[in-house]
Amino acid sequence: MSYLLGIDVSTTATKALAIDEHGNVAAIASDEYEFVTPRPLWAEQNPADWRRACVNVIRRVLEKIPARAIAGIGLTGQMHGLVLLDADGEVLRPCILWNDQRTAQQCAEITARVGGAQNLLRWIGNPVLPGFTAPKILWVRENEPQVYARVAHILLPKDYLRYKLTGAFATEPSDASGMALLDVAQRNWSDELLKALDIPRAWLPDVFESPVVSAKISAAAARETGLLEGTPVVGGGGDQAAGAVGMGIVQEGIVSATLGTSGVVFAASDSYRLEPNGLLHAFCHAVPNKWHLMGVMLSAAGSFRWFRDALGQAEIERARAENKDVYEILTAEAARARAGCEGLIFLPYLTGERTPYPDPDARGAYVGITLRHHKPEMTRAVLEGVAYGLRDSLELMRALGLNVSQVRASGGGARSALWRQILADVFDSEIALLNLAEGAAYGAALLAGVGAGVYHSVADACAQTLRVTDLVTQGKDVGVYAEYYKVYRALYPALREQFKALGALVARQT
Ligand code: XUL
Repeated sequence: MSYLLGIDVSTTATKALAIDEHGNVAAIASDEYEFVTPRPLWAEQNPADWRRACVNVIRRVLEKIPARAIAGIGLTGQMHGLVLLDADGEVLRPCILWNDQRTAQQCAEITARVGGAQNLLRWIGNPVLPGFTAPKILWVRENEPQVYARVAHILLPKDYLRYKLTGAFATEPSDASGMALLDVAQRNWSDELLKALDIPRAWLPDVFESPVVSAKISAAAARETGLLEGTPVVGGGGDQAAGAVGMGIVQEGIVSATLGTSGVVFAASDSYRLEPNGLLHAFCHAVPNKWHLMGVMLSAAGSFRWFRDALGQAEIERARAENKDVYEILTAEAARARAGCEGLIFLPYLTGERTPYPDPDARGAYVGITLRHHKPEMTRAVLEGVAYGLRDSLELMRALGLNVSQVRASGGGARSALWRQILADVFDSEIALLNLAEGAAYGAALLAGVGAGVYHSVADACAQTLRVTDLVTQGKDVGVYAEYYKVYRALYPALREQFKALGALVARQT
């Protein structure tokens, strides 16, 4: 039996996961680290921490699986991070992470340099956002010229690990899309943009497709990790694309909705499609010749956690006394309210919003409270508001001609049967749960299996390993929610200016 290894360098830990050819998980190891915020809005991490964690988790997996049985390795990780190396391959400064917000000025500068947002959409399929990689390169050029003068290589986090494991400078299109330097339609670097920004192409790694072997484990890395020299390493994928592969989101029509702290709606697309205003991320998929569209809501299950902490003290105490899960108690209460909560709508913009309103000033709200509203309605409105917000991303996808036949739910929020039913009714789509929810490392292992010849294609890898285990179909409330959704849609535009005014008032008081 051969095994496949997926390695995920996330913001909180590096995880290694080995699966057998049937997709059964044979070994998992994880090693945590911190990120630092040297100044407000900054977020950095030391690549040496990922490397140490990576060696550690590989060694732990190899205590269970013999190195000679590993047929291939796939890498995945946090997207958008900037790793700078000098000509000797030494790290020049800490990695600037995806959640670092220091580059608003550089984003405006890039947009101006290229002659406006429409040119960016034409060249790279997306606007430039502060978390993306390109504006960070400009920030280093402007603020740390002594560092910039020594740059010889620019890498993403997982591709730095590839360099340490194989000696190769390589990437793949799904993660590279988030650098804001890739021509997403052509799946290679945008010469126009590199020229406009005066960034040498030679600094960027070669682009291999995600399931293609990009390099092999070097003798030095073999000594350090215990892996066999020559073990193939495939391109892999950014965490969202690899996570989607791990949920079988590899063909048009199947979409995932992830209810983590943030909420992500991810759709595979057979052709390159672009949201005309750049409201959805339009990135390459980790599947050759496929792309994906992605909408990100900043407070999904995070809204429910806020509700628990701010208004759920009684339930927290009851859960403690009865040794129950507080979310189960809260959702049981929510189930007592009717769909639409008798005219109560919750807006989930508790930490601003990204899709469809890229607005850091957006705020949460309860709209429509009357004397008849109590805890069950207040709770259910949160679950419904998150579902409406995710539907906004789905609607942008549907408007581009994507036909959504099934939504696969994952993340902590998807454990609630009530929330799954609300999603099915608000989306007017069936909601599926899978046999496995191991995330991006699992998808990376499947990609490795394609490169190693264990599976014919990424679709074949998913078909051989993933199964739908639960299916919720639309219920009687689809029509009710369609009406409420119209009201929801009108609320943010009506409140936008007042949200800004509130933000300004708060700023003045602090
Ligand atoms: C994707 C994104 C995050 C990071 C961190 O656009 O910002 O998923 O990759 O996990």
